[in-house]
Amino acid sequence: MSQGSAAPSSGEALTGALFDRYAVAPAIRSFIARSHGLLVAGRWREALSGERIDVFEPSSGARMASIASASANDVHLAVDAARRSMDDGRWSRLAPAERERVLLKLADLIEADLEFLAVLESLDNGKPLTAAREIDIPDALRFARYMAGWATKIDGRATTLSAPNAPLGVTLREPVGVVGAIIPWNFPFNMAVQKVVPALAAGCSVVLKPAEQTSLTAIRLGELAQHAGVPDGVLNIVTGFGPTAGEALARHREVAKLTFTGSTAIGTRIGQIAIQNMTRLTLELGGKSPMIVLADSDLDRAAQGVVEGIFYNAGQVCCASSRLYVQESVHDALLERIATRANALRLAPGLAPDCEMGPLVSARQRDRVSEYIEIGKAEGAQLVAGGECAGTGYFVRPTVFSGLHPESRVMREEIFGPVVAASSFRTDDEVVRLANDTRYGLAASIWSNDLARVRRLAGAIRAGTVWVNAHNPVDPALPFGGFGLSGFGREGGPEQLDAYLETKALWIAA
Ligand code: NAI
Ligand code: MG
Repeated sequence: MSQGSAAPSSGEALTGALFDRYAVAPAIRSFIARSHGLLVAGRWREALSGERIDVFEPSSGARMASIASASANDVHLAVDAARRSMDDGRWSRLAPAERERVLLKLADLIEADLEFLAVLESLDNGKPLTAAREIDIPDALRFARYMAGWATKIDGRATTLSAPNAPLGVTLREPVGVVGAIIPWNFPFNMAVQKVVPALAAGCSVVLKPAEQTSLTAIRLGELAQHAGVPDGVLNIVTGFGPTAGEALARHREVAKLTFTGSTAIGTRIGQIAIQNMTRLTLELGGKSPMIVLADSDLDRAAQGVVEGIFYNAGQVCCASSRLYVQESVHDALLERIATRANALRLAPGLAPDCEMGPLVSARQRDRVSEYIEIGKAEGAQLVAGGECAGTGYFVRPTVFSGLHPESRVMREEIFGPVVAASSFRTDDEVVRLANDTRYGLAASIWSNDLARVRRLAGAIRAGTVWVNAHNPVDPALPFGGFGLSGFGREGGPEQLDAYLETKALWIAA
């Protein structure tokens, strides 16, 4: 059950010292220290088994908190509660304007809670507080407001049919039913908001299973939703492990729609389970996203783009720019700039004011990433920067490899850490071939000011998102999702609402 080596007592002493050093507010300290439960039918309670999961603070590896470990029975109770709330229409048949009002209220509460959420997220996941405060939580807030607005904008079509006597055909968009949402640990609060709010806007009830490593801000979201007036049973939160709580949710027949973000391996497994019940499915999975730098691009801007593309969130980003293709004539000059920036990045606990890159989320993820670094070295890569772990806790230095063969594992497999593999190309045709030489297809970026070349390349790249002179930003109005092994379905934009709606055709005889 444990993920770290620190014993509970020393863990509390260590995290207490950390809280003191960074003056963590008493309200946040006491929230963390609570005996967090499951949210089922509007009540917070222990797991039926009483089992708990330890939560570790990533910069020290010390035990910081514990959460309830839901079993299949707890999950069944949560799905039952969600099902009942759908059936009696307390949310699903509420006036759309009323649903919108409640969700906008939730957004206001998130805004008022921004600092609390940012500190909690930083402590739980390890990410820099500045990033949580300036990017993550504000992104989630914008997403919540955008999706709240969709509650009143869901409509169908009316059309005169060609059958005798011209019957009227009408399409109705109805909430799909109970939504099961399973999310990962890299953007815990954003992922929760990104799945929960659009489902609620569509009139669905939800059972959310956060990642076992990072459940604290999802728990906080549950409290805020209650304060905003989301009725009991409409949002249920079951913290717990994937193979137990997650899989029980995936298997439940009363779950009409599953939305999952995480590894391709588990996504595949969930897909196989889902098809047995014809459960609707959105899968947002891994990636090996290319960043393509053309010779005409602004090299300082591109170097900064690499820092943002692969070192943001310590590389634990599904669309991270983990493959870097640089046009031959600027390859060495760009790598020099990247190495300088990578070596200068300040690694520190997320709460440290000067932290530029935090630790990875868990000991397991650190070990996984350092194993890939060793694989890269063994595969004959040239090490341009980094290449090692750092300090106590789960730190890995920003690492830049170059000169790897396209078939090497570091060029092909998702590492999910601060590791980029660079290589050079000559022609646009060659870089299209290299960039598309992957079974993933989540994202890509092209760095150039040559509009005609950018347009041609963007058209030829197989990926759900292509950024031009940027890498990683998201916006609620733009659908995000993958080609190939990166999954299917889109999140963001009106496309996401579709995923939580069924279409019913109505035939009205004249
Ligand atoms: P994972 O895919 O195992 O975990 C994601 C979520 O799925 C968590 O909530 C977990 O509890 C749940 N889960 C695990 N097994 C399950 C099962 N059998 N049934 C239902 N739910 C289950 O990811 P993990 O193991 O934490 O990370 C491994 C790798 O996955 C990373 O190194 C990275 O490559 C990839 N990953 C990709 C993410 C993305 O944003 N696309 C996010 C997290 C991980
Ligand atoms: Mg796993």
